[in-house]
Order: sequence, then structure tokens, then C-alpha cells
Amino acid sequence: MGSPGPQGHGPAEVIVVIPTILGIESSCDETAAAVVRGGREILSSVVASQDDVHRKYGGVVPELASREHLRRIVPVVREALEQARKDFDGIEAIAVTQGPGLIGSLLVGYTYGQTLAMALGKPLVPVNHLEGHVHAVFLEAQQGKTDGRHRLPELPAVCLIVSGGHTVVYDVRPMDGALEGPADYPAFRCAYTRIGATRDDAAGEAYDKVAKLLALGYPGGPVMDQLARHGNAGAVQFTSAHTRGNLFDFSFSGIKTAVLRHIRANPAFEPEIAARTEALRSGVRRAAELLPLCSQATLNLVASFQRAVVGDLVQRTLAAAEDRAAQCVLVSGGVAANSELRATFEQETAARALPVFFPSRPLSTDNAAMIAAAAYPRLLAGEIARDGPGAQANLPLA
Ligand code: KG4
Ligand code: ZN
Repeated sequence: MGSPGPQGHGPAEVIVVIPTILGIESSCDETAAAVVRGGREILSSVVASQDDVHRKYGGVVPELASREHLRRIVPVVREALEQARKDFDGIEAIAVTQGPGLIGSLLVGYTYGQTLAMALGKPLVPVNHLEGHVHAVFLEAQQGKTDGRHRLPELPAVCLIVSGGHTVVYDVRPMDGALEGPADYPAFRCAYTRIGATRDDAAGEAYDKVAKLLALGYPGGPVMDQLARHGNAGAVQFTSAHTRGNLFDFSFSGIKTAVLRHIRANPAFEPEIAARTEALRSGVRRAAELLPLCSQATLNLVASFQRAVVGDLVQRTLAAAEDRAAQCVLVSGGVAANSELRATFEQETAARALPVFFPSRPLSTDNAAMIAAAAYPRLLAGEIARDGPGAQANLPLA
């Protein structure tokens, strides 16, 4: 270290502390905690899924979700600290999801984070869950940094957030006058404008509802993703929903109803649905186990459903990117794990010479690393709140 200041020998050295942030996420049915340094080094990321609790209902039951968060929050945070080899003294701030989400679920994480911050005398950074999903992409893009493979998304970008709770497209650009952070730890402080959103169901919700109709288990997306590979996507024609007024809005409730009508019109589906219901009851979960219990007609229906949903998501997002003259496309949220969605985006953006960025699968679905990453530029900007408005079920991002 150089000798700074008083004697006037050499320039004073500025010691930059890169903050290590404990992130807490509990907006829906995953209890998650993570430790992330400077918005890019993931020291730990622990996610306790509640799928086993909600499976028999085919969707998230809010009361059960908040009860499970209460049971798990303390061990999950402890595990995240242990994996990161940190104690509370080694944490500079606590980031917590403020909304949007299920209010009972949000309250557990928020109150826990707020209480921790107060007890430890550390700053609390409230984070919008949707901003977390955007930051999952920035976080992922910085993971290859040590081997020189990394490439950061250039802004302005258009970001599709597509999950069980959300289907929304944002214009994402750097906020005027925001701190950029140290060179190795860039701070993506962004301004968001909502360009389009679903008018009814989220895309992941449509996957989960169709999986329930066809007895393919819960959550439906991952299994249907696998099964769709065995079907003919051109077998059943679904018409794309017309969302009058805004070209960039989505609608997925119509396709779910069309699937229901298709099943009702074909009584041959009944016995295999009954057989799969029985198999699910006896603990069958994996696509490989369900595949032999699916007729070709079912596989074709799943593939056709997926083709229609993916086509709509890709087409409207790319239209929004063109409209906004975006430098790249970001895709995040649980459904961003879908292999056909990824492949179609890759193909269509390559044809337009437009880079596309996804988080890895663990960072696509709900996690707390993305919350800690989104908190980093806010912490640098001094946006901390200990007695803020608290958890909000409908917290808007823009
Ligand atoms: O982001 P997430 O973990 O939680 C929410 O905020 O909703 O997303 C979960 C959703 C579920 O609806 C699930 O069916 C869907 O993401 N999903 C998928 C895939 N993996 C998860 N949908 C389609 N294909 C997948 N591979
Ligand atoms: Zn989410």
C-alpha cells in the first residue's frame, strides 16, 4: 500500500470497500437467501423450494406458503451465511424483496430482514422482485469474468420477465447521473419503463394450469418442456391472442381454454389422464416417468401449446426491442429456463444481429442472489430504508 497524504509523498490512496450483501427473497413459494459481493461475486445462494407443499393443489396456496416461509427463513439464512463462510459482521447490508408478490409471503422475509438490519445496525435495502429478475441477467453475464468469456449487456435493452406470476416487458436504460461503481464491480442502476404485460394469466401460470388439466404434475413448465420434444408442434393450431390497444401486451388465458376444449372434444384423453393422476399420487414426478404414460396425441398437444406460447413471447418481445431501438434483449424469470424459448430467442435474435442474454437456470427461477445484486447499485446510491413503507403486494417497478 502506498503512503498517502500528510507528508505529501505520492497520491492519496482511496480504499474502496466492495460491499457484501445478504439477500432475502420470499415473494412467492421459494424461501431464499444469498450472499453476493459487489453485485457479481455469488458467495452462496440457497433456495428452499415449497413445490412439495403446493403440488397436490396444482398451484401455490398463499396461506401454506407464508407458513412454510416462517418455518424455513432462519435455517435458510443461516445456511447461506455458512456456505459463504461469513457471519453477520462480514455483511455490509441486508437486501430484501419488498414486492410484488403474495403479501403473507413477502411479510415474512421483509419483517425478518428489517429486524435483522435493526438488530445489527446495518442498512436495509428494499428491492423490487422484478428488478431482481432483471439483475439476474447482469449477474449471470459477469460470472464468466475470470476466464475472459464475459460480455456485458449494452443498454438500452428490452427485458422480458416471464414466470409463474409475471409476464412483462420493460425498457431498461441507465439512470441519468447514477454511480457506475468501481471498474471491476459495475453498478447497473437502471430506469425502467413498462412496455407491455399480460392482460390475464402469466405464461408460467398457463403452463401450470395446462399441466393440471393434463395431469402432468406441478410445476408444469419443466416437465412440459421435456415432453414437448417428443411431440409434433404443428399438430394442433392455436390462434395467437389479439390484445387490442397495445401490440406488446400478452394474453394466455385463451390458449388454456383452447387446451381444455381440445381435451373435452377428444374423450380418448380421459383414461390416460386418469392413469397419470394415479401415477402422480404414487409419487411420479419426472418427465422420463411420465413419458410412457402419454399418448402421441398428448405429446402433440403439449408441443403445440409450447410452440404457440413461445412464438408469442418471442415475437412480441422482439417487436418491442425494435420499437425501442434496444441494443440487446434480456430474458429472465422461471419460464426463461424453457429450452424452446431459449433456442427460439437465440435463432431469431441472431437473424437480427441483436444479442440476447439469459441467466443460468438457477438464476432464472426465484432466488435471493438476484435480490442482493439488484441492491448493490441502490446501496451505492444510499437508497436504504429501515422504517420504509414495508412489504407491498402490488409494488410497481414502473
Ligand atoms: O420465477 P419462478 O421461479 O417463480 C415465479 O415468480 O413465478 O417461476 C416459476 C414458473 C412456474 O410457472 C414454472 O412452471 C415455470 O416457471 N417454469 C417453466 C420452466 N421451468 C420453470 N416453464 C416452462 N419451461 C420450463 N423449463
Ligand atoms: Zn419471480
